[in-house]
Amino acid sequence: MDAALRARLAELCAEGWAIWEKFDVGVRDHEFHPFVAADYEGVLTALLRHRAQGLKFLEWGSASGVITIMADLLGFEAYGIELDADLVKTARSLATRFDSRARFAAGSFLPSGYVWRPSGGDGRIATIGDGASGYRELGHPLDEFDVVFGYPWGGEEPMMLDLMKRYGRSDALLLLNTVNGGVVEYRGGS
Ligand SMILES: C[S@@+](CC[C@H](N)C(=O)[O-])C[C@H]1O[C@@H](n2cnc3c(N)ncnc32)[C@H](O)[C@@H]1O
Repeated sequence: MDAALRARLAELCAEGWAIWEKFDVGVRDHEFHPFVAADYEGVLTALLRHRAQGLKFLEWGSASGVITIMADLLGFEAYGIELDADLVKTARSLATRFDSRARFAAGSFLPSGYVWRPSGGDGRIATIGDGASGYRELGHPLDEFDVVFGYPWGGEEPMMLDLMKRYGRSDALLLLNTVNGGVVEYRGGS
């Protein structure tokens, strides 16, 4: 990575943390909201390992857009889907400030009709919200993506793996940010 790109990414992450801190005080101090920022450095390291021009990247729950913009700056064709329309506006304006072509859709990363039915029973989806599927606005179904990133809350990982197994490409890479284990990589849903 050249020095100019490294500096640009550092600036993006710093701005991302500033947005997150403002959001934490302005929104999360008053009501529950599932937006918690991922470990940007850890995600960057994982993306650098798999970086290749033209690969399609999707972020599930893209919030302020930092990771999708990071993927775009690294050369991926990058998209994000986020349920909170205000956060989508934040992400689009951050993309403009960084001359990024990252694209964002307001909606759910769950394909229409998806129902989570774990073998053991409880199919509730914790902090993952309900809403119209965002893939139509994006113009690309899940099986077009080479790399998908998500930051599940504890217990939501099996649902994200199931989603990938059922709707993703079998050779696609799924990167999940975990609270204690860094960024974990899966292929073919396992
Ligand atoms: C843990 S945060 C991760 C934010 C960002 N990906 C990151 O890693 O910094 C999860 C995000 O997913 C969003 N979200 C929750 N359910 C969603 C759904 N069904 N579709 C799209 N976004 C969703 C939340 O609003 C929140 O912004």
